[in-house]
Amino acid sequence: MSSLKSFFAVLTLTATAASSIVGAATVAVVDGVGAGQFELRNAQGMTVRLAAYGARVTSLVVPDRDGKFADVVLGYHDVEAYKTAPKKPYLGVTLGRYAGRIAGARFVLDGKEYQLSRTGGPNHGHGGVVGFDKVTWHAERTTDGVRFTYRSVDGEEGYPGNLDVSVTYSLTSDNALVIDYQATTDQPTPVNLSNHSYFNLAGEGAETVLDHVLMVRADAMLAIDEASIPTGQIVPVADTPFDFRAPRRIGDRIKDEDQQLLLGKGYDHTFVLNRASDRQPTVAATLYDPASGRLMEVLTQEPGMQVYTANFLDGILVGKSGRPYLKRSAVCLETQHFPDSPNKQSFPSTILRPGELYQTRTIYRFSTRNQL
Ligand code: BGC
Repeated sequence: MSSLKSFFAVLTLTATAASSIVGAATVAVVDGVGAGQFELRNAQGMTVRLAAYGARVTSLVVPDRDGKFADVVLGYHDVEAYKTAPKKPYLGVTLGRYAGRIAGARFVLDGKEYQLSRTGGPNHGHGGVVGFDKVTWHAERTTDGVRFTYRSVDGEEGYPGNLDVSVTYSLTSDNALVIDYQATTDQPTPVNLSNHSYFNLAGEGAETVLDHVLMVRADAMLAIDEASIPTGQIVPVADTPFDFRAPRRIGDRIKDEDQQLLLGKGYDHTFVLNRASDRQPTVAATLYDPASGRLMEVLTQEPGMQVYTANFLDGILVGKSGRPYLKRSAVCLETQHFPDSPNKQSFPSTILRPGELYQTRTIYRFSTRNQL
């Protein structure tokens, strides 16, 4: 079999019908290059690839306004490459047990202090040294997607309680990738799950996202300190470079001499979303690439969204297209609770208790426009 043919050779295992939110998608196991990954495909030709290593999104192929398809997330063809890469900036992964930073790698819960693993410096980030991103999850096909499950055992990375987690990806007929997170625990523990896909709507490997137009429904953001930990201050975005309430180029003010931008080396901040509801996903953000016409809407039930403009990518990683992944060559829109909530009484609680169900849905929905 030619390599191209083998690359596309997929073994279609199920084809299925719609429910109220998901449309017909086929779920296949990839054969040849990229073996072991799952591929979801809908009737419009959108495909999503997923890998059990990190319960991650490895590819997301969507049309532009002329019907030309491109892969809009950074990553690799081959799962092994995620393990052997010289740097591991969480490409496409599920972040957990706690997305974002926890100051001093410690917190007190019900009067007891817990010491977490440190991830460079004195703090704890993205769930620890291994986290949910560097383990291989159990995978099972669902009717229109894949459900990944993982048991994070009591004491893992310092967290209390056995946590049973599932992340289910489904592809709808209207080009939406739906991510459903669930978790239960046998001891009180902080939980904050998110997805760390790096988007470039011009296609991964394109140089920057500075011309992408971003809208974020947030009247405020969380100020950070030198270690990128929220200070606790909730700052109105009005008259700051963080005002994306009306659609604006990401690059418009990213170079402003703004103290918060300097601390983050660009955008690397939690936006405090103006939520219509926490019971169903509502539009938190839109990202638009004027050149291709591709538009992505982000819907969530979460109170926050981390906007990270790939400030620490430096060209060392070379992705699927053979081009280096440069600083600002993507943007992550990570729906989540606020970083360091276990140490900030004023932030919405992230504590899950026995008998409770952690449940949250995020949707990345794709379409095209001639203009915004
Ligand atoms: C964080 C960044 C971090 C990046 C990848 C983002 O979620 O906010 O500070 O560098 O993940 O490592």
